Amino acid sequence: MKRVDDFRLQLGKHELVPIMIGGMGVDISTADLALEAARLGGVGHISDAMIKTVTDRRYQTKYVKEKLALYKYNALNEDKSPVKFDLGKIAEATRLHVAGTMERKRGSGLVFVNCMEKLTMNAPKETLKVRMTAALDAGIDGITLAAGLHLGSFALIEDHPRFRDAKLGIIVSSVRALQLFLKKTARTNRLPDFVVVEGPLAGGHLGFGMDWAQYDLATIVAEVIQFLKNEHLDIPVIPAGGIFTGSDAAAFLENGAAAVQVATRFTVAKECGLPEKVQQEYFKASEEDIEVNQISPTGYPMRMLKGSPAIGDGIRPNCEAYGYLLDANGKCSYVTAYNREVAAHPDARKVSVMDKTCLCTHMRNFDLWTCGHLTYRLKDTTHKRADGSYQILSAEHVFKDYQFSVDQKLALPEVEAA
Ligand SMILES: Cc1cc2nc3c(=O)[nH]c(=O)nc-3n(C[C@H](O)[C@H](O)[C@H](O)COP(=O)(O)O)c2cc1C
Repeated sequence: MKRVDDFRLQLGKHELVPIMIGGMGVDISTADLALEAARLGGVGHISDAMIKTVTDRRYQTKYVKEKLALYKYNALNEDKSPVKFDLGKIAEATRLHVAGTMERKRGSGLVFVNCMEKLTMNAPKETLKVRMTAALDAGIDGITLAAGLHLGSFALIEDHPRFRDAKLGIIVSSVRALQLFLKKTARTNRLPDFVVVEGPLAGGHLGFGMDWAQYDLATIVAEVIQFLKNEHLDIPVIPAGGIFTGSDAAAFLENGAAAVQVATRFTVAKECGLPEKVQQEYFKASEEDIEVNQISPTGYPMRMLKGSPAIGDGIRPNCEAYGYLLDANGKCSYVTAYNREVAAHPDARKVSVMDKTCLCTHMRNFDLWTCGHLTYRLKDTTHKRADGSYQILSAEHVFKDYQFSVDQKLALPEVEAA
């Protein structure tokens, strides 16, 4: 029986361990986590979601405060359209984060940035262009286009000097999405360097409707591989979503996948950005504690722990400080839902909003516990401490478990010193 280490992912001149740690915003897939993947010969992701919050936290900048000071006057206004991002500042923050990560990179692996189209930022095209351009300027190895069809994204950077040398890939959840992307992108004369096929068991936002349970990753991966073969396109296919053990990963590699993208197992690594208190919630979760709901203002279903403090919370929208989900017209469905509740309960000191969540504020505060479907198995990957909590893992341990384990085994870490 083969193990992951029997395979390699070839991306241009790079020969890589075929394990990619998926992007997890906001600062859940930290630079430290991505750098571990690269050091060990695989691919890690940072994320540019809420980049100003990330740089303020990691690089002592004051971008959020500055933006809030500029737009404070608008806080009680229902119309958020005046709240614009300064493109120069977005570029600056992105460069800081990317360059700060890349200069610490060791080993033969790569670091990519996860770029979500659904972060529309009150000027979708302009901000996306700046985000990708700045990441390329700052030396990122590659960009993974996520959370959206990205039909115009290649065109936004086709004039960049690194457009043909940086590794560019896209996450899709169906052959149809890939077909559309290839069709709309053909004019740029550039194919993606890899395609991540994300199935319905992944964490974060899902590329499926609420009928997600009807779909199966292996089937979609086989369809994508067949489609590319029919089209005589040689593009590495990287399945993601519910690949929990090295054996799960090896099975995909044996069936023609070029690598796997994994995330949930790394949410309980010490290099991951989640506070340990939240990591313990992930460990404790049972299958019944996990749901897919529609409270994300992006419009995509999202998987999370039912106990997430964000669910039902009615915090005042904070678009003046954040505003990453404002669409091209300055609208966010949480703002609409919040105003509806305030109007319906004029005397309430605090309202509850059940149908939508203030994703920016709650992701920033680690109060929205998005997770993969198999989060309930994390407790099997470590030791329980005497006080009932679970021992945090190292990214290296999890990475190597994927790389070398066989027979559906999960390698437990050494028991930590008391
Ligand atoms: C906590 C968490 C946050 C995530 N955030 C993002 C994100 O910001 N962008 C994205 O494209 N995918 C996101 N994902 C999806 C992962 O990158 C990955 O494709 C998927 O979760 C892999 O499946 P697995 O978690 O079962 O291993 C997230 C996943 C998790 C668990």
